[in-house]
Amino acid sequence: DTANWDACWLRFTPITDRKRLEDYRQWGQEIAVADPADEVLQTAAAELMDGLEAMLGVRPRRSAAYTGKGGIRLGIRGQMDDLPIEPAGPAGSGDGYVIRSMPAEDEHGLIVAGQSAKGALYAVYHLLRLMQCGEELSGLAINEAPSNELRMLNQWDNMDGSIERGYAGRSIFFRNNEFVPDMSRIRDYARLLASVGINAIAINNVNVHTVESLLIAEKLLPDVARVADIFRRYGISTFLSVNFASPMQLGGLPGADPLDERVRRFWKEKVEDIYRAIPDFGGFLVKADSEGRPGPFTYGRDHADGANMLADALAPYGGLVIWRCFVYNCQQDWRDRTTDRARAAYDHFTPLDGKFRDNVLLQIKNGPMDFQVREPVSPLFGAMPATNQMLELQITQEYTGQQRHLCFLVPQWKEVLDFDTHAHGAGSTVANVVGGRLFGSRRGGIAAVSNIGDAPNWTGHVLAQANLYGFGRLAWNPRLTAEEIAREWIGQTFGADPDVMETLRKMLLDSWRIYEKYTAPLGVGWMVNPDHHYGPNVDGYEYSRWGTYHFADRYGIGVDRTVRTGTRYTAQYFEPNAELYENLESCPDELLLFFHHVPYTYRLKTGKTVIQHIYDTRFEGVLQAVELLNAWSSLEHKLDADRFEQVRDRLREQVKHAREWRDQVNTYFYRKSGIPDEHNRGIYA
Ligand code: GCU
Repeated sequence: DTANWDACWLRFTPITDRKRLEDYRQWGQEIAVADPADEVLQTAAAELMDGLEAMLGVRPRRSAAYTGKGGIRLGIRGQMDDLPIEPAGPAGSGDGYVIRSMPAEDEHGLIVAGQSAKGALYAVYHLLRLMQCGEELSGLAINEAPSNELRMLNQWDNMDGSIERGYAGRSIFFRNNEFVPDMSRIRDYARLLASVGINAIAINNVNVHTVESLLIAEKLLPDVARVADIFRRYGISTFLSVNFASPMQLGGLPGADPLDERVRRFWKEKVEDIYRAIPDFGGFLVKADSEGRPGPFTYGRDHADGANMLADALAPYGGLVIWRCFVYNCQQDWRDRTTDRARAAYDHFTPLDGKFRDNVLLQIKNGPMDFQVREPVSPLFGAMPATNQMLELQITQEYTGQQRHLCFLVPQWKEVLDFDTHAHGAGSTVANVVGGRLFGSRRGGIAAVSNIGDAPNWTGHVLAQANLYGFGRLAWNPRLTAEEIAREWIGQTFGADPDVMETLRKMLLDSWRIYEKYTAPLGVGWMVNPDHHYGPNVDGYEYSRWGTYHFADRYGIGVDRTVRTGTRYTAQYFEPNAELYENLESCPDELLLFFHHVPYTYRLKTGKTVIQHIYDTRFEGVLQAVELLNAWSSLEHKLDADRFEQVRDRLREQVKHAREWRDQVNTYFYRKSGIPDEHNRGIYA
């Protein structure tokens, strides 16, 4: 029953402003759909009818041919050739669309036309968004096309119903090692995703365990096909994460060597079975030779051998291989100061540039480590001009407060997308690399690890819905600002009250930096409790095998990654970034301890010493967490009690845990350095 879970930003609350309502009703009198044979176009028409009815209180008249008295003509451009509309976006961008007001004689007429049925669906959601936000409809001339071909979500869902790094309940896909019998929630998820332009999804965890390996076996394929049927209606193609050792587990072969003919035949046959069940199957997502997962290294082969073998099996059907670059030595001895985990992806993959098939994309995490609150951008972006690259972000807040703390991640993602790699001169931003524009790559895109589960509000923290929304919008258009995205989301989710808008806008936009202030300082990362990664533990990962060290002693802190005296990681960047990070004087403060080991008395660009910065930001961070709570509390009478209380409870918890962070981090560094706080605040000796 859909009523049991939150509609997120697709609320379509009735419009109460009389003037607006009367105006919108004129535009929404009729919906003409020329040829609704296509099922995605049918979805578009149904969404438009339902959305308008909910907002306007009257169901539009549905017709096959427009009567010309105010209303919406919905369709696919090639089938609306009588209309004066230009193609949407650059050639080949099949997901584009136009929304146009009709000429003067049809005062309340709109054309909503996709380059394809999917484009029409995106256009419908765009129009509904404008109306939810109370925008003017006359004089519209919208022409949109996505910047990224693949706009993808990765579910880290396991078939037992658990979700790796999930903070919003159990899986909506699986339970007790089976698919859920009632898939209505999957359908609602598809709607949410399509409404922000997502067009691909991998439905199971990248760590593919024994049961999940069977997803490509005959018994479970019909269930995968049922899920794919649901997503297809919303223009989303279904992918599976696969186990590289499947030829052994499923095929009874002695190994999984990608150059072994028997192994190649196994995959070819498997792929044949899959496409028989799911003709538009997207392809495979693969985590290989990473954190204990099997891969080509076992057979003395490289990642190109492994990826290409799967790519050859998928190519006849147009399927893709998305191969993850999260490959590093997770058995490091902490005494070993020469190995640097940050170097690993670049060192493993750059020698293979140009060796991957056209239907392979390398999926690269935004930073060289692992989704920390602050990291530099991975130097692998742009460093493989002859290889398709894709960006991987983490919406689920593993290291950013686990959906108990408010942390709107869009500002962080914007910094990643806007980062200029200088791979091909100035302007070689990550957005241009993964969009395929920089090197004219065949394919590209952005993926992210989802943050949803079966919690009634989807994301555990109501305000974490903004991260899912924001990811989709940015994957569609990386040029949108964090501010624009925040406003859109607030308007649709909480309505247009100016107080609510202004208060929430500020809360969202400040939240990432607030979280950064009371957690690990100056880009050094980690300092969390091992395994579950929640809460402060400064030395939690200091003496373990994961390569995640801060090297704090009584004199100083930080990791020397310079060419001159350190691990030479800075040399993986193109100039001028390499020099920027190499030199202590030019290295940005917020990344200082990622690149350099400095004494506590080292002075930042702000004029403060490192130790005083650590103290000051932790105290500020807690004060600002309290401000978040107060700001939200001020909205009590403007919001529904249910969501108000849910968020207030989370913000209270955030304040409590921010204090814990402040006190543990400050005390740790006071004990190490012996340097007191200039302002004599409460630090526990
Ligand atoms: C992180 C995370 C793991 C996950 C891994 C990955 O290390 O903690 O749970 O499996 O990333 O991205 O593969």
